[in-house]
Amino acid sequence: MSLMKLEIAKSGVVINEQMKAAAQKANELLHSGLGAGNDFLGWVNLPSSIDAEQLAAIEAQAAKLRQKAEVVICIGIGGSYLGAKAVIEAMSNSFEFLNKKHANPTVVFAGQNISEDYTHELLEAVKEYSVAAIVISKSGTTTEPAIAFRLIKAEIEKRYGKAEAAERIVAITDKARGALKTLATNEGYPTFVIPDNVGGRFSVLTPVGLLPLAVAGVDIKALVAGATAMEKATATDVAVEDNLAAQYAIVRNELYKAGKKTEILGSYEPKLQYVAEWWKQLYGESEGKDGLGIFPASVTLTADLHSMGQYIQEGERTLFETIISVAESKYTVKVEAEEANLDGLNFLAGKRISAINKMAELGVQLAHIDGGVPNIRIEIPAIDETSIGALLYFFEKACGISGYILGVNPFNQPGVEAYKKNMFALLDKPGYEEESKAIKARL
Ligand code: PA5
Repeated sequence: MSLMKLEIAKSGVVINEQMKAAAQKANELLHSGLGAGNDFLGWVNLPSSIDAEQLAAIEAQAAKLRQKAEVVICIGIGGSYLGAKAVIEAMSNSFEFLNKKHANPTVVFAGQNISEDYTHELLEAVKEYSVAAIVISKSGTTTEPAIAFRLIKAEIEKRYGKAEAAERIVAITDKARGALKTLATNEGYPTFVIPDNVGGRFSVLTPVGLLPLAVAGVDIKALVAGATAMEKATATDVAVEDNLAAQYAIVRNELYKAGKKTEILGSYEPKLQYVAEWWKQLYGESEGKDGLGIFPASVTLTADLHSMGQYIQEGERTLFETIISVAESKYTVKVEAEEANLDGLNFLAGKRISAINKMAELGVQLAHIDGGVPNIRIEIPAIDETSIGALLYFFEKACGISGYILGVNPFNQPGVEAYKKNMFALLDKPGYEEESKAIKARL
């Protein structure tokens, strides 16, 4: 079975030799390390370089946490959060929260916001469960997870004592730098390292994503295998005609040049909603700079046809759409015939829900094209670890190629600093005295 299909015919873009050459050059720069941001290219060969020993160490640590805790609180933000959240959502039963007999610990997230109510509700909700925590920060200095961790660490220490807390808290951070590294060393926490050359939003296939996923019962070997297969399928020795990541990167750049400034990633599978959130961070932080970049948006369908559908069909014509389509559903549910047929649905009797969903997908695609919204379709075989691993790497590779075609450094995020400076100034953080005065004068 093929890893993925990419349909670009309905985007209206016809790939020419010049576009192919630009994409090939961009891909070669990612592999040669001669392009912008080349300190952060560790993700390019990451899947194929993860060895059995590393996976075994992650699985062993996951097994310890699984054995100790009913709830594992995963603390992080941005790239230190979204990859694990995306894959857990994709791989979990949508109604797991109703299941009284959990086969796996429940992974919940913290540190991705500074909401007092979220924090309170989380701390209250976990009271009747045994808990453990995974705290993730590459820089080790990010404020949101640091605040959450301070509270969760205190709760774990209060319940189990300091020595046992060190068995229940795992840190994932830089090998040497940052407050989290110092704290983890002092407290004796088991630690996994985020490689220097892998940026946050490209780190899902490091322990950042793999440890929480293994805790949640995801088959991380299959996930990495899927990513490795896609790494091979998008390497520089694969012609652009066969390299789906290069094709996707070309098409979205051509659409951008033609005035399509917003890309909407949609799926007819609600489980993929957080894959879209992860994708938004990947593309938004990588390309949105220097006054350039497609604005990444997302919809979950068919739900959002009843909210955003009107705009997509008839609003400003600056949109294009990329749909992640899933070839095979896991389960079979059919519409049954009903004698009275009061709802008039007997014309669907005997049909699988997935067949109806597919017709919705097709109908929407054609309607949106008629409405002036170019369409790209990515088809994955199923929602399983191998397909999701391949999809994640596909998006990463396409993002690197796309960013280089666009002419930006896809691996930095200087714009993220602006809010932090203001927030620290407003909170009177030591060292920000001048900024404090200046910002308060503006209020
Ligand atoms: O992609 C990135 O580098 C960022 O989005 C980071 O992942 C995010 O800011 C969190 O950073 P850290 O892991 O250092 O706490």
